[in-house]
Amino acid sequence: MTTSLAAKETDADRLAALAAQRYREAQHLGEEWNETIETLLSHRSVRSYLPKSVPHAAVELAVAAAQSAPSSSNLQAWSVVAVEDAERRSRLNAVAGNQRQIAQAPLLLVWLADLARPRAIAAEGGSAAEGLDYVESFLLGVIDAALAAQNAVVALEALGLGTCYIGAIRNDPETVARELALPEGVFPVFGLTVGFPDPAQPAAVKPRLPQSTVLHREQYANGARTRDLATYNKVMRSFQAEQAMPSIDWTDQVRNRIGTVEALKGRHVLAAAARRLGFKLQ
Ligand SMILES: Cc1cc2nc3c(=O)[nH]c(=O)nc-3n(C[C@H](O)[C@H](O)[C@H](O)COP(=O)(O)O)c2cc1C
Repeated sequence: MTTSLAAKETDADRLAALAAQRYREAQHLGEEWNETIETLLSHRSVRSYLPKSVPHAAVELAVAAAQSAPSSSNLQAWSVVAVEDAERRSRLNAVAGNQRQIAQAPLLLVWLADLARPRAIAAEGGSAAEGLDYVESFLLGVIDAALAAQNAVVALEALGLGTCYIGAIRNDPETVARELALPEGVFPVFGLTVGFPDPAQPAAVKPRLPQSTVLHREQYANGARTRDLATYNKVMRSFQAEQAMPSIDWTDQVRNRIGTVEALKGRHVLAAAARRLGFKLQ
């Protein structure tokens, strides 16, 4: 909270600038600017990196941020593998469809739903760990891993590093599990490339849906589901033009991503793969 009127105006201006970047239309965000809010609202995925390794201290700080995330029943049912070895990264990249940013980034963090640890703890205490065999426990591990990873992303961005999630490692989670020597009951949720952003190819803040589409008050308003999408299509078209990206309506991107089984790129068999990796998913 700021005290002087002049400083308050500055905070409001900063928030207005952040809102303009994120929404490209009027969005009131109040007057409570701070550096944490600046970092969060300035997020962008980074896909071009300098050939410079990530200091181990940055990884340790990111993992501390990750461990500071809330965790369901404090089970802390996640782990992360930091992969720097170029050949291992290249093999993992083959699973992910050979994405340029994976080849370029000096570090790939693979975030894991880890039910092997609670299972071992249960076994030591003579417990059958029946609860681990249910979808609920798989979800718990995935949620814990996602919350942890996103905290790490914010920490890394606050340090001036760039990141990009890599869901494409789920194209073949069993190959990833073999590559990383994952024990039974550990599932690779997503990768995260990490590196110093290449200033010659800066990433831009990608506009999001207007809040009128996603924010419901008291009850879900069906009318909000597709409200203002035509405007958002236009916003995304101009973003794509600025970024020299192929021009496509966002609503068509959504349809393409979910329209066919082929678009899942192998992930339509994920339940079977998860079962083979030790999750019963009852
Ligand atoms: C779980 C998850 C998986 C993702 N997987 C990929 C991926 O495999 N490749 C990629 O280039 N981007 C991937 N992304 C990044 C999204 O494309 C990106 O977050 C989205 O387009 C919004 O852009 P922004 O992060 O720059 O705001 C992923 C994001 C998430 C949250």
